[in-house]
Amino acid sequence: MEVIKPFVKWAGGKGSLISQLTNFYPFELENGTIKKYVEPFVGGGAVLIDILQKYDVEEAYAFDINKDLINCYNVIKQNVETLIEKLNEKEKEFLNIELENRQEYFYKIRSEYNSYKIEDNLDVKRASEFIFLNRTCFNGLYRVNKNGKFNVPCGKYKNPTICDAENLRNLSKLLQNVVFEYGDYKKCIKYIDTNTFVYFDPPYRPLSITSGFTSYTKEDFNDENQKELADFYKELDLKNAKLMLSNSNPKNTNKEDNFFEDIYKGFNINEVSAKRMINSKAQGRGEISELLITNYKENNECIQENSILKMVVSN
Ligand SMILES: C[S@@+](CC[C@H](N)C(=O)[O-])C[C@H]1O[C@@H](n2cnc3c(N)ncnc32)[C@H](O)[C@@H]1O
Repeated sequence: MEVIKPFVKWAGGKGSLISQLTNFYPFELENGTIKKYVEPFVGGGAVLIDILQKYDVEEAYAFDINKDLINCYNVIKQNVETLIEKLNEKEKEFLNIELENRQEYFYKIRSEYNSYKIEDNLDVKRASEFIFLNRTCFNGLYRVNKNGKFNVPCGKYKNPTICDAENLRNLSKLLQNVVFEYGDYKKCIKYIDTNTFVYFDPPYRPLSITSGFTSYTKEDFNDENQKELADFYKELDLKNAKLMLSNSNPKNTNKEDNFFEDIYKGFNINEVSAKRMINSKAQGRGEISELLITNYKENNECIQENSILKMVVSN
C-alpha cells in the first residue's frame, strides 16, 4: 500500500517532521504495551496517520475545535465514495476552465460555503467544499474572519489535485477504528489511562508580534491557554499516560524567554529543527527550532533525560 497522506494542507502540519518525531514516540508503542492513541489537536493528522500505519493501535481518539475538519474525517471514514464523486465533479469542472477564469469558480464555491453553517456531523457536500477550497486556495491556508467566514483568496496552482481518490480510500480504511470528536481538547480526558499515548500539537505560541498565524478558528490560543494546557498535561501525567507535546521555541527570537521551561518544569524538553515561516514574509522562512516535551525517557538511546538535543530536518 502507498504511504497514506493527510487529505488537507494544514498550518503547523507535521508531515515534514515525522521521521524525527518517530524517535520520540514512547518505546511502549513499539513493543505493543500501548495500544491506545489520543490526539487532542488533530489538525491535518500527520502524526495520527503515521502511528496508525506503523503500530498496532486498537483504539484511537482525535479531537479538534474546527467542526468542518472533524466533519471531513467522519465523512472520509463513513461515506468516502460519495465524497470522491463530489470532489471528482468539482475537479473536472475547475480544471476545464481556462487558468485566468478559474477565480470565478473558486469564489462561487467559497460564497456557497460561507452562506451556511455546518449542522450535521456527516455533511458530504460541505466536506467536498472544504477540501476543494483547501486544495485551491492560497497556500492551502484555513483562515476565518471574526464572523467565522472563510476568507483565504484563490491560489495560483496550475494543476491542483482536488480529488486523490486512492489516498482517500486508503485513509478511509485506516481510520475505521478512530473516533473523531469536535470540541475542546479537554474532552479527551475520559479516554486516557496508563496505557495511552497522547500527542499534543496545539496552535504555536507566536514567536514575535509579527509572526503569528494562529487563527485556525475564530478563537485564538493565547499564553493563558498555553498555561492551562500545561496544567492539563500535568493532570494527565498523574494518570501515568505517556505524553508528547510540540510547540515553537521562543528562543528563536528571544534567548531570554523561558516560557516553556517555566510551565513544563520537570519534564524533558527537547529541541528539533524545522523549516517554517517565522513571519508572514517569504524571507522569514528558514530553519528554526521547535520544542518537543515528553514525560518519559525517549526511545532514542542517544537522548538523555532533561537534555536538549538538536535534530536537523531537511526538506
Ligand atoms: C498545530 S495544529 C495541529 C497540526 C497537526 N498536528 C497536523 O499535522 O496537521 C493545531 C490544531 O488545534 C486546533 N485547536 C485550536 N484550539 C483548540 C482547542 N481548544 N481544542 C482542540 N483543538 C484546538 C486547531 O483547529 C488546529 O487544527
